[in-house]
Amino acid sequence: MLVVKDVSKQYGDFTAIESINLEFSTGLYGLLAPNGAGKTTLIKMLATLISPTKGEILYNGKNISDMDDRYRELLGYLPQHFGYYKNYSPKQYLLYLAALKGMGKKEALHIIEELLEKVALSDVINKKMKKFSGGMIQRVGIAQALLNNPKILILDEPTAGLDPKERARFRHMLTDLARERLVIISTHIVSDIESIANEIIMIKNKRLLYKDSVENICSSLNGNVFETTIAYDQLEDFRLKHSLLSEKQEYGNMRVRFIHKGEAERNWTVVPPQLEDVFLYEYRDEIEGEV
Ligand SMILES: Nc1ncnc2c1ncn2[C@@H]1O[C@H](COP(=O)(O)OP(=O)(O)O)[C@@H](O)[C@H]1O
Ligand SMILES: [Mg+2]
Repeated sequence: MLVVKDVSKQYGDFTAIESINLEFSTGLYGLLAPNGAGKTTLIKMLATLISPTKGEILYNGKNISDMDDRYRELLGYLPQHFGYYKNYSPKQYLLYLAALKGMGKKEALHIIEELLEKVALSDVINKKMKKFSGGMIQRVGIAQALLNNPKILILDEPTAGLDPKERARFRHMLTDLARERLVIISTHIVSDIESIANEIIMIKNKRLLYKDSVENICSSLNGNVFETTIAYDQLEDFRLKHSLLSEKQEYGNMRVRFIHKGEAERNWTVVPPQLEDVFLYEYRDEIEGEV
């Protein structure tokens, strides 16, 4: 229903996204890539906030920029940097946004109470948002994106600033929301989406790297992910020779997980690839020092 057709985006001379093709239907799609990969650029184009330099985005065959308000009526969007009013309560804030959308107050009140219940904020509906945690603010953000009961919900890094418990709650909520609509969420954190996304989209070097199920993406490294135990003083040498994914201490030695293509050594154990392995491997040049 939503199709990204050969889309590129330039900022002046700089190319942020190049020749991307994507198709979305109902369900949850996770846009996964490190910072600077072009996630926000792609999402802003899907939200009609910026236009592609080349290519087009179609909803049921129609260009979304031509659809204009008819497209935006279908759309719910949470920007990466979500601006809200600290001195407002969630109810006041959502009523204000509903008024901007031309909703009647009575109808809006009813919808807002339902939405705030959905995002588990019923008990703070009249509290000023300046006292809210990061997770609570993000939930207000989701509620505002749902005001028009959108068919397409796009959330740009919605888990930034959330603690592990809030992340877990968030994943449940997203699964729920994706039952009856298209949900696209961007993140640079694998665990946010690996268990809930129907498909993962990865961008590398400005182009589409993968758009596939977690299982299929992981199979790209089948037989290439190993674990073994080495002595601590072998670690430096091992790091130089292999693409290390993780290392942890184990009874005074080091347990290492790494990528190897080719003949394996006897004391190595081949392990099933995880999405995190693919992420670390594919973006090893970009995220060096970050993880
Ligand atoms: N308005 C802009 N003008 C110039 N360069 C930009 C602009 N917005 C983003 N970029 C650049 O485009 C690239 C992709 O940015 P962005 O889409 O924000 O990536 P992500 O959301 O994955 O972190 C980055 O190199 C960024 O510096
Ligand atoms: Mg971004």
